[in-house]
Amino acid sequence: MVLILWYLLWSTTVTKHLLAQTGETGQLPPPGYCAPYNGKICKHYLNGTGQVWFNISHDNAGGWLNEQITTRLWAEMVAGLKEPCRSAAEKLLCTYAFPQCQLRNGHAVGLPLCAEDCVAVRQLFCYNDWALIEDNKQRGIFFKSRGHFQLPDCESLPSFRGTSPPACSHAKLTEMKMEEVTYDCVKGRGRFYQGTMNRTKQGLPCQHWDSQVPHSHYRPPDVFPEVQNAENYCRNAGGEEPSPWCYTMDPTVRWQRCDIPVCENVTDSDDENIGVKDLAMETFFTPKFILILSAVGLTGLVMILLLFLLCHRLYKHRRGYNPTATREEVNIDLDKLPNNMAYHRTGAQLNPKLEKLEFPRNDIIYIRDLGQGAFGRVFQVS
Ligand SMILES: *[C@@H]1O[C@H](CO)[C@@H](O)[C@H](O)[C@H]1NC(C)=O
Ligand SMILES: *[C@@H]1O[C@H](CO)[C@@H](O)[C@H](O)[C@H]1NC(C)=O
Ligand SMILES: *[C@@H]1O[C@H](CO)[C@@H](O)[C@H](O)[C@H]1NC(C)=O
Ligand SMILES: *[C@@H]1O[C@H](CO)[C@@H](O)[C@H](O)[C@H]1NC(C)=O
Repeated sequence: MVLILWYLLWSTTVTKHLLAQTGETGQLPPPGYCAPYNGKICKHYLNGTGQVWFNISHDNAGGWLNEQITTRLWAEMVAGLKEPCRSAAEKLLCTYAFPQCQLRNGHAVGLPLCAEDCVAVRQLFCYNDWALIEDNKQRGIFFKSRGHFQLPDCESLPSFRGTSPPACSHAKLTEMKMEEVTYDCVKGRGRFYQGTMNRTKQGLPCQHWDSQVPHSHYRPPDVFPEVQNAENYCRNAGGEEPSPWCYTMDPTVRWQRCDIPVCENVTDSDDENIGVKDLAMETFFTPKFILILSAVGLTGLVMILLLFLLCHRLYKHRRGYNPTATREEVNIDLDKLPNNMAYHRTGAQLNPKLEKLEFPRNDIIYIRDLGQGAFGRVFQVS
């Protein structure tokens, strides 16, 4: 009750303020108020971040609407993501839905996301999934539960550097954890390794991170403090690999991990569970290998189907007509296959070493849908 009264008081004062200021500024910040976050879905991420901004609108009392949209998006979008994308997306979504609040001239202002966090998620943590969402957006396919939420445009967001108080809500996805910095050994995935190893495990010299020769690359994006002043030292920005790595000076070897000893008796960091990707697999992910794998997979699937049909036919022949068997057959709904999210996803995370396989998105001209296959949408491009 007290809360509601307080809220009403707040909103009327804010509104008065806003009305008083209209003449001067011309442009009003969206009406809102500052309060601690009391919801559920983002409790884990917003604990201890101070007051957050709530949009004042008839359907968002107490942040109810944003809480609901976030909860639904969590189920619709976040739940299907893999690490390290998932945790990063959760953090970014919570920071977007409940931004940090600042008072400017008596107005409560919700700070936008920080460009660094946005770029880190788009270019590194969630590279594939972000691209997929943007693709869908262009085709007019949106998340059902998105409400008034919009996919942020990283380039239009402010940086968290250089202003005090900060101009944006920092989700701290690019934060350097000083207590985890190591110099001559690797803790966990070695995300905060700051040593000077400049050769890969096979002894190949490393390419400078700010150089595009011999390997041109755009990862890791320039938002991670781990790779600032990193010369040609092994690094693992964002913890995307199981251990520090570098692009190599050998034109035939794009990148390689480095052989740095593991620190003795370290307590497991929470980065430990982020993106447990098997690098040994990825070393084999040459285009040829992927092609062969797809061919083998497809052949296998067709064989199994044929075998199944054959068996079924033989079985039916022997047994004669059997109503239960027919019902079983009906239950196998092949149309369900493409509905499985796993088939829609671009399987492996695109890694620095797979960049070569990526076409610049804008160079792809979409011609037509060829149909839906068990492996996802098939379309003709040129
Ligand atoms: C929030 O942080 C406080 C201490 O800062 C802690 O006692 C509490 O358990 C935390 N709550 C959650 C949900 O993490
Ligand atoms: C405030 O909430 C309304 C819906 O209740 C939405 O249309 C509007 O875009 C929101 N404003 C901001 C700045 O989030
Ligand atoms: C690698 O580092 C060592 C010293 O740490 C240095 O002498 C050497 O020149 C470096 N090599 C390259 C290729 O940068
Ligand atoms: C490593 O373990 C030993 C005992 O097991 C302990 O005394 C020492 O402080 C630990 N070192 C670190 C860096 O945790």
